[in-house]
Amino acid sequence: MEWSRPWRWFCCGVLAVIMIEGCGRVEGAGEVTYDGRSLIINGQREILFSGSIHYPRSTPEYDFSGRYDLVGFIKEIQAQGLYACLRIGPYIESEWTYGGFPFWLHDIPGIVYRSDNEPFKFYMQNFTTKIVNLMKSEGLYASQGGPIILSQIENEYQNIEAAFHEKGTSYVRWAAKMAVELRTGVPWVMCKQTDAPDPVINTCNGMRCGETFSGPNSPNKPSLWTENWTSFYQVYGGQPYIRSAEDIAFHVALFVARNGSYVNYYMYHGGTNFGRTGSSYVITGYYDQAPLDEYGLKRQPKWGHLKALHAAIKSCSTTLLQGIPTNSSLGKFQQAYVFEKETEGCVAFLVNSDSHTAAVQFRNISLQLVPRSISILPDCQNVIFNTAKVNTTPNQRILKSVQKFNSSDLWEEFKDVIPNTDDTPLIISNTFLEHMNTTKDKSDYLWYTLRFENNLSCVRSVLHVESAAHVAHAFLCNEFIGAAHGIHNGKGIAMDIPIMLHDGMNNISIASVMVGLPDSGAFLESRYTGLTRVEIHCSGGEFYNFTNYAWGYQVGLRGEKLQIYMEENLDEVVWSQNGISTNQTFIWYKTFFDAPAGEDPVALNLSGMGKGEAWVNGQSIGRYWVSFRDSQGNPSQST
Ligand SMILES: *[C@@H]1O[C@H](CO)[C@@H](O)[C@H](O)[C@H]1NC(C)=O
Ligand SMILES: *[C@@H]1O[C@H](CO)[C@@H](O)[C@H](O)[C@H]1NC(C)=O
Ligand SMILES: *[C@@H]1O[C@H](CO)[C@@H](O)[C@H](O)[C@H]1NC(C)=O
Ligand SMILES: *[C@@H]1O[C@H](CO)[C@@H](O)[C@H](O)[C@H]1NC(C)=O
Ligand SMILES: *[C@@H]1O[C@H](CO)[C@@H](O)[C@H](O)[C@H]1NC(C)=O
Ligand SMILES: *[C@@H]1O[C@H](CO)[C@@H](O)[C@H](O)[C@H]1NC(C)=O
Ligand SMILES: *[C@@H]1O[C@H](CO)[C@@H](O)[C@H](O)[C@H]1NC(C)=O
Ligand SMILES: *[C@@H]1O[C@H](CO)[C@@H](O)[C@H](O)[C@H]1NC(C)=O
Ligand SMILES: *[C@@H]1O[C@H](CO)[C@@H](O)[C@H](O)[C@H]1NC(C)=O
Ligand SMILES: *[C@@H]1O[C@H](CO)[C@@H](O)[C@H](O)[C@H]1NC(C)=O
Ligand SMILES: *[C@@H]1O[C@H](CO)[C@@H](O)[C@H](O)[C@H]1NC(C)=O
Ligand SMILES: *[C@@H]1O[C@H](CO)[C@@H](O)[C@H](O)[C@H]1NC(C)=O
Repeated sequence: MEWSRPWRWFCCGVLAVIMIEGCGRVEGAGEVTYDGRSLIINGQREILFSGSIHYPRSTPEYDFSGRYDLVGFIKEIQAQGLYACLRIGPYIESEWTYGGFPFWLHDIPGIVYRSDNEPFKFYMQNFTTKIVNLMKSEGLYASQGGPIILSQIENEYQNIEAAFHEKGTSYVRWAAKMAVELRTGVPWVMCKQTDAPDPVINTCNGMRCGETFSGPNSPNKPSLWTENWTSFYQVYGGQPYIRSAEDIAFHVALFVARNGSYVNYYMYHGGTNFGRTGSSYVITGYYDQAPLDEYGLKRQPKWGHLKALHAAIKSCSTTLLQGIPTNSSLGKFQQAYVFEKETEGCVAFLVNSDSHTAAVQFRNISLQLVPRSISILPDCQNVIFNTAKVNTTPNQRILKSVQKFNSSDLWEEFKDVIPNTDDTPLIISNTFLEHMNTTKDKSDYLWYTLRFENNLSCVRSVLHVESAAHVAHAFLCNEFIGAAHGIHNGKGIAMDIPIMLHDGMNNISIASVMVGLPDSGAFLESRYTGLTRVEIHCSGGEFYNFTNYAWGYQVGLRGEKLQIYMEENLDEVVWSQNGISTNQTFIWYKTFFDAPAGEDPVALNLSGMGKGEAWVNGQSIGRYWVSFRDSQGNPSQST
C-alpha cells in the first residue's frame, strides 16, 4: 500500500463526524471556545474522542431513501447525547466521486477549483452559507443548544497549495475569512494546513500524529487530530489494510501524552459506496476494517481495546487538562509524560518505543515496559492500561448462506444493445470527446462508435486502442473482440486485439468505462479521460488512423436509459428465460427473492460475477468487480 501520497477523507458535500466517547451529555452545549490546551465547552476544557461516520454510506433505520438527510442525521447525533464536528468542505476527497463536487461545477465558465478564482469562490461560499444557514435554522450549533461544536472548511489543502502559487495562499486566507464571517458561534478548523489563519485551528490528519504533528501554529490553539486512520481505503486489485488494535492504541495514547486533546478516528464506522458514489477504482466496501465495520458490526478486539483506552484516559481527564505537562527520559527509547498539579493529582504516560521489553524506574517504582507500548498511570503509581495488552476477545464475522441463486432457471437476462454509428447520430465529433464531460457523470459508460470501408484489403490486422479512462470493451460488428482495464494510480490503458475485418463496411464500437471519478489532486476540473488513440494496423504495414475521425457517441447503456432496474420499468425490455448461460459482456440479469428472516445485515455474494453494478428493489447497492484479482488471485471484494 502506498502511504506517501496522503489523500483519503471525508464524505459527500457535507461531512459530519460524531463524537463517541468522553464527551459527556449534550445539555445545551453552549459556547465553544478554545485555548492552548483544548476546546472549551461551556467553560470546561474537554478531551474528546470522536469517530467518523459518513451518513450517506450508512443505511439509516428511518428510511433507506433518506441517506442524504443531514439535518436528520445531526438530530440523531444530538438524541444520542453526542457532539458533532461538521466538516463542510465543500471539497471533501473522502474517496467520494469527484471529491464531493457535483459534476455541473465543471461546466461553469472559467472555473478553477480550490483556488483564488471568482467562479469557484462564488459556489463555495454559496454552498457553505447554505449549509451553515440550514444548521442555524434548525438550531444545531452548540451556541444555539445544538450538538455541533466544531466546523471544518476545506480539506488538506496544503497537499496541493503549491500548484496554485500565490493564488493558493490567497485562497486559504479567503476561505478562512469567509468561514469565520458566517458566525457559527463555534470554532473552525483546517486540517493539514500548517498556516491556517487565526482564529482557524490547524489540525493533524495521519496515522501517527503523536510523532508527526508539528503542533498548533499558535500557543493559544489546542492540539487536535481530525483524522486518525484506523485502516485505509481499498481499491480494486488491492487488499485490506489491517491495522492492529495495539498500534492504534499506542498512537492515540502518545498523542494525548504529547498534549493532544482531540482524536477523531477515520473511519470509526465503515460504510458502503452505494450507487456510483465511490471515486476512481475504490471498492464498494468502505473502511470495512474500522472498529465498526461496513455493516456496523463491532470488529473485536479493536472496538473493545479502544473503548478501554478511552475509559482510562477519561478517568484522569481532569488532571490531564489542569495539570502541568512535563516530560523526561527513562532510557534511550523510553519517556515519561507527566501531567501534575498539587490539587489535581498526577497522571503519567510511560512510553516504550523499543521492540524489546524495558526495565525502568519511574518515581522510585520499578516497571517492566513491554515492547512498543504506552502504560497509563492515572495516579502516577498504578498502571491501569497498557496499549499492547489487549483484554478484549477477538471476534470473527460469520456469513451464513441463506439462499442460493446457482440455477439458471432462477434468472432471466436482457442483452444490452451494442450501438453502431447509425444508432448514435446525436453526437458526432471529429475528435475524441472527453469521457466525463460527455457523460456528465450520468453513467459510467460512454460508447464511441465508428464505421469505415475496408479499402486497404487488410488481411491480418490488429486493433490498437489507448484510453485515459479505466476500462475499454471493444466490439467489431457487434462481436466482442477484447477488453482491458487500468489500475488505481495508473496512467490509463492500451490494448492490441487481433481482428478479422469484413469486406466492405465495418463497424467498431468501444465502450469506455470510468469506475468512479477522480477525487484528489490539483486542477480536477481539467482532467482528460476517455479514448486517446484508435488505429487498425494491417500486416503489410498499412494502417487506418481513427484518432481524428467521425465518431458517434452514446452516453450509458440502453438498460440504464430505460432504468430497467426499477420494478415499474421491468417490462420496457424483453427478458429471456434461463439467463446466466453465457458470459458475454453487457448483460442484465434479474431474479426475485424473499427477504431473509431476522434483523441481521444482509449481503449478496457476487463471487460468481465479473464486473458491474447491482440493484435491489431499485436501489443501487454499488459496483462490483470480482474479476479484478489482487496479487494473490483473490477479488478485492465479493460480498
Ligand atoms: C446561492 O446562489 C443562488 C443563485 O445562484 C441564490 O439564489 C442563492 O440565494 C444563493 N444562496 C446563498 C446561501 O448564498
Ligand atoms: C490513528 O490511527 C492509526 C491507524 O489506525 C493508529 O495507528 C494510531 O494509533 C491512531 N492514532 C490516534 C491518535 O488515534
Ligand atoms: C506540552 O505542553 C507543555 C506546556 O506548553 C510543553 O512544555 C511541552 O513541551 C509539551 N509537550 C510536548 C511533548 O510537546
Ligand atoms: C520533551 O518533549 C519535547 C518536545 O517533544 C522534546 O523536545 C524534549 O526533548 C523532551 N524532553 C525529554 C527530557 O525527553
Ligand atoms: C525516591 O526515593 C528517594 C530515596 O529513597 C527519596 O528521597 C525520594 O523522595 C523518592 N522520590 C519519590 C518521588 O517518591
Ligand atoms: C445449488 O446449490 C445447492 C446447495 O449447495 C446444491 O444442492 C445444488 O445442487 C446447486 N444447484 C446447481 C444447479 O448447481
Ligand atoms: C454496421 O452498422 C450498421 C448500423 O449502423 C448496420 O446497418 C450494418 O449492418 C453494420 N455492418 C456490419 C458489417 O455489421
Ligand atoms: C464540455 O461539454 C460542454 C457541452 O456540455 C461543452 O460546451 C464544453 O466545451 C466541453 N468542455 C470541454 C473542456 O470539453
Ligand atoms: C479508405 O477508408 C478510410 C477509412 O474509412 C478513409 O478515411 C479513406 O479516405 C479511404 N480511402 C480511399 C482511397 O477511399
Ligand atoms: C494517428 O493520428 C494521431 C493524431 O493526428 C497521431 O498522433 C498519431 O501518431 C497517428 N498514428 C499513427 C500510427 O501515425
Ligand atoms: C466465458 O469466457 C471465457 C473467456 O473468454 C471462455 O473461455 C468461456 O468459454 C466462456 N464461457 C461461456 C459459458 O461462454
Ligand atoms: C461466496 O461464494 C463463494 C462461491 O460459492 C465462496 O467460495 C465464498 O466463500 C463466499 N464468500 C463468503 C464471504 O461467504
